[in-house]
Amino acid sequence: MKELLWQSKSEPPGPDLRPVNGFAPPEDEEPCKSPDLRAFIQKLEDAGRLLRVKETVDWKLGIGRWSRARRKPLLFEKIKSYPGQQVLTNGLVDLTCLRLALGFEAATPWKEVIAEARERMETAVHPRMVRTGPVLDNVVPASVLDLLQFPVPQWSDYDTCRYLGTWHLNISKDPETGQRNAGVYRMQLLGAKRATISASKGSDLARHVVNAEARGTELPVAVAIGAPEAMVIAAGAACPAGIDEFELAGALQQKAVELIRCGNLEVPANAEIVVEGFIHPGVRVEDGPYLDYDGRPNTNPKAFLFEATRLMHRSQPIFRGCATGRPGAEDHQLFAFLAQLNLLDFHGSRIKQRFQNFFWRRRAFRTAQMVGRMGSEPHRRK
Ligand SMILES: Cc1cc2nc3c(=O)[nH]c(=O)nc-3n(C[C@H](O)[C@H](O)[C@H](O)COP(=O)(O)O)c2cc1C
Repeated sequence: MKELLWQSKSEPPGPDLRPVNGFAPPEDEEPCKSPDLRAFIQKLEDAGRLLRVKETVDWKLGIGRWSRARRKPLLFEKIKSYPGQQVLTNGLVDLTCLRLALGFEAATPWKEVIAEARERMETAVHPRMVRTGPVLDNVVPASVLDLLQFPVPQWSDYDTCRYLGTWHLNISKDPETGQRNAGVYRMQLLGAKRATISASKGSDLARHVVNAEARGTELPVAVAIGAPEAMVIAAGAACPAGIDEFELAGALQQKAVELIRCGNLEVPANAEIVVEGFIHPGVRVEDGPYLDYDGRPNTNPKAFLFEATRLMHRSQPIFRGCATGRPGAEDHQLFAFLAQLNLLDFHGSRIKQRFQNFFWRRRAFRTAQMVGRMGSEPHRRK
C-alpha cells in the first residue's frame, strides 16, 4: 500500500522523475538491515556518550547554543512547539563518536582507524536497492507539504533564519551522463516548500545544475536528513575516481547502504526524512548570513532555489543537524578525518585547500578556520 501511495499517478505534477538512461537496478524484497541513525544513537548511548536533553529547548537559537556549549552528542527530546519530535546534534563531535559511526570499537587506536579506513576505501561496496524502507512510513504530497512540520533549528543569532540542511545529503544526477552525486550543501528554509541550496561553483551539484540549465530543464534533487552517518561522511568527501558516495559509504561502514527509488534518483531507504523536489533552472537567490565552519557569518548571493514536491519520513522522525562555527565542532572532526584520508576538497583555491588540509590533519581547528577566512569578506551586521 505504501508503495502504491508512493507511486500514485494522481499526485500533482512535479518534475519528470522517470529513470534516465534506462537505468533500473533490480530491487531486493528483503527489508533494510544496514545501520541507521537510530542504531547509531543506541551505540552512543551504550558507550555512555549520549546526553539526552530532557528540558524544553527552543528550535530558535536554543538547540544551537546547547550544541556549541557541549562536547557531547545531544538528543533533544523536548522541543518547543514540536511535541514528540527529537533532534540529534554533535553526533560526530569527537574521535570516539567517529569510531562508533564507522563500526570500530570505542577504544581502537586512531592510527588503526585511519589505516583500516584507507584499506576499506580501496574496494567499493555497491548499494543494495530495496523495494521499501522505513522512510516510506509517511508520504506527504505537495498539496499539504510543509517543511516547517519539523523542528528545523535557527542555529545562531548570526543566521537570518532556519537551516534545514546542515548535516544531510543533496542527491542528484548529471543530466548528461546519468552519474549520481551526493553532497552536503547548506540549505536555508525559505518557506513551507522552498529552500536555498548553497553549493560552491566547482561542486558536482553546481555542474549538474549548469548541465540541466543548458537543456532548459529543472534538476531533480532529493534531500535526505537523518541518513546513516557513513552516508553523510561520504557526501562530505571528494570521492576518489571510480567510486561514488554511496559506494564509499558502504566501503567505510563495511556494509552496503540501502536505497529506494525516488523518481530517477536513489535515496537512503532508512533515512529519517527525504524531501523530493527540483532546482529551478536559471534562478539564483541569496542564502545567509549563516555562521559557517570558519567561525564567521557569510552570505551566498547565488544559491540555487529548491522546490519540494513530495516528502517522506519515518514516524516520529529524528531531525539531524550540525551547529557550525565553533573550533572542533563535528563538521571540523569530519573535515579532519577526510583530510587524513585525502578526501577533502572544498572546490575553492588550491593553495588555500592545501594549507587548510595541513591544519585539518593536525586537528589545528582554529588555524584551519583562519585559513578558511583568508580572501573572503565577512558579512557585517547592519
Ligand atoms: C557539514 C558540512 C557542510 C558543508 N557545507 C557546504 C556548503 O554549504 N556548500 C558547499 O559547497 N560545500 C559544503 N560542504 C563541503 C562539500 O560537501 C564537499 O566539498 C563535498 O566534497 C562536495 O561534494 P562534491 O565534491 O561531490 O561536489 C560541506 C561539508 C560538510 C561536511
